[in-house]
Amino acid sequence: MLIDTYGRVATDLRVSLTDRCNLRCTYCMPEEGLRWLAKPELLTDDEIVRLIDIAVRLLGVEEVRFTGGEPLLRPGLVGIVERVAALGPRPRMSLTTNGIGLGRTAAALKAAGLDRVNVSLDTLRPDVFKTLTRRDRHKDVLEGLLAARAADLAPVKVNTVLMPGLNEDEAPDLLAWAIEHDYELRFIEQMPLDAQHGWKREGMVTAGDILASLRTRFDLTPEDAGERGSAPAERWLVDGGPYRVGVIASVTRPFCAACDRTRLTADGQIRTCLFATEETDLRGALRSGAPDEEIARLWQVAMWGKKAGAGLDDPSFVQPDRPMSAIGG
Ligand code: 5AD
Ligand code: SF4
Repeated sequence: MLIDTYGRVATDLRVSLTDRCNLRCTYCMPEEGLRWLAKPELLTDDEIVRLIDIAVRLLGVEEVRFTGGEPLLRPGLVGIVERVAALGPRPRMSLTTNGIGLGRTAAALKAAGLDRVNVSLDTLRPDVFKTLTRRDRHKDVLEGLLAARAADLAPVKVNTVLMPGLNEDEAPDLLAWAIEHDYELRFIEQMPLDAQHGWKREGMVTAGDILASLRTRFDLTPEDAGERGSAPAERWLVDGGPYRVGVIASVTRPFCAACDRTRLTADGQIRTCLFATEETDLRGALRSGAPDEEIARLWQVAMWGKKAGAGLDDPSFVQPDRPMSAIGG
């Protein structure tokens, strides 16, 4: 098991497959992009599959989520999914993507064994999309979403970040659109994970703001508290159900006490939290010939050091050096 000193058990592994991305979302990356990892620094497909095998066979991991950067930019993605689907015990598998290129790959990913996708989409307006992501790719994302639904990568979840002055007025429109298309919409509070360190607590759109905005058009009733478990999204029934909307209030209502995650970066570092300031190098151990049991032990030691929480709302909070795209969302 991957257990920490607070008794939390990590069963959910996030694997970043690349730090690169084809968008430049303002809350994530600077306009010019970042200095990408060089090829030899990245884990190979074989190394990734081996670490996931160790996680599910020796450490109790039950769920694997592939992230980036943009994971669809990883050439070996379909093959990795296929090999992970053949592991025993077979973990549940999902993909967190910006949706660009999903139109071409959704069916192959489903056939390889992927269960679900989370697609990031912040706006229904192509011009706002271009301002937010600095790329004119709104149409590709909508196509990717349709392909995901057609391939039955269900439930298709849509992740939305609201930014002040840009798309903060779009919450009710996005919810109406998501209901119409049968996507499960979740709003994520903007976190201090941008490469430019420009995040400000004062400006951010909070869960409270989002709910108030949704309530101008919808009747929201909280889902039973028991159903949340370690899921970060708090969910509300929309107009009596069955449709639900989620809000992930990482800043204003942190869920660290129930966290069940462990993270692997594209260059083979274990992070216990998005906001961790330390990492544990598994790539070095892999490449120096360490046996599975030793790698499992290093992973357990890393998790034992997991902090109680990130304290994003705390004045003493320090933003991690790596941005979201280099950690994995
Ligand atoms: N705050 C909140 N969410 C973010 N994401 C990326 N950067 C941030 C941030 N600073 C979101 C993406 C995607 C998911 C992986 O995390 O929009 O939906
Ligand atoms: Fe790319 Fe996701 Fe960062 Fe946007 S938030 S630039 S889609 S990694």
